[in-house]
Amino acid sequence: MATSTQWQLARDAAERYERILVPAILGPAARALVEWSDLRAGQGVLDVGCGTGAAARFAAEIVGPSGRVAGVDVNSGMIDVARSLLPVRGAAIEWFENSAYQLPFLEGEFDVALCAQTLQFLEDRPRALGEMYRILKPGGRIAVSLWCDIRESPYFDVLVQAVTKSIGAETAAGLCAAFSLSDPETIRALLTDAGFKNVKATVKQLDLELPKPRDFVPRHVSATPMSAGFNAASEEARRTVVNDVSEHLLLYETDQGIRVPFRTHLAMGAK
Ligand SMILES: C[S@@+](CC[C@H](N)C(=O)[O-])C[C@H]1O[C@@H](n2cnc3c(N)ncnc32)[C@H](O)[C@@H]1O
Repeated sequence: MATSTQWQLARDAAERYERILVPAILGPAARALVEWSDLRAGQGVLDVGCGTGAAARFAAEIVGPSGRVAGVDVNSGMIDVARSLLPVRGAAIEWFENSAYQLPFLEGEFDVALCAQTLQFLEDRPRALGEMYRILKPGGRIAVSLWCDIRESPYFDVLVQAVTKSIGAETAAGLCAAFSLSDPETIRALLTDAGFKNVKATVKQLDLELPKPRDFVPRHVSATPMSAGFNAASEEARRTVVNDVSEHLLLYETDQGIRVPFRTHLAMGAK
């Protein structure tokens, strides 16, 4: 069963994304990007492909009430969930259901554009980066996060292998797409070609505590584009996926679950 490689989730999956994936994986990853982007009180920040808004909310706490934060995502389910969450202490956040290819802002409105684990899903990356460049003030900055090669994040790696083997590559494609822009030179060239100067990049390793794979894997998959393919598979195939993941991550087992590394590129450039 084919899955969305642009990470387009229905509203109920967007709720699960916020409840399951954000606390476990995407939230810590968004926090790492925001911390690295060196925001200041009073700045204007746009979170492009904001999903349920993890990076926007961390940014709002840092820029504070005198700052401005906006989140844009093309997916109505994600934006609905973002709007439904309690406000954070800091800047008020405005949410926009729009494409990264046509940002609903004037030239030079923001100090910083954040793009957390989203650029890899965009078919026309130069166009989206051009839009982020346009809405930045002169001297403003872009900060993007993109997962490193999947082999550097063992949980994702063994999950993709297990789903591919027992269910099929079409279902695994939903997660594989998250690793479609992992080459540091390609990332650097994309930013430079979009006009960004002084491009710098680093790799951040997050050592994350996850519940035991037998509990976490089905919940995680239900919050991703793999969910339709996984649910349509036989009970035996689903059980084999969970068993394979557990077996291959024994090395990372703790008393509570697993503690496993996730590695992401962080890249920044100035207008
Ligand atoms: C893996 S999620 C990341 C969400 C969020 N940044 C986070 O860190 O939790 C990727 C997001 O990209 C969004 N997306 C995909 N194509 C898009 C587009 N053309 N314009 C805006 N957002 C897009 C999806 O709707 C999804 O919310």
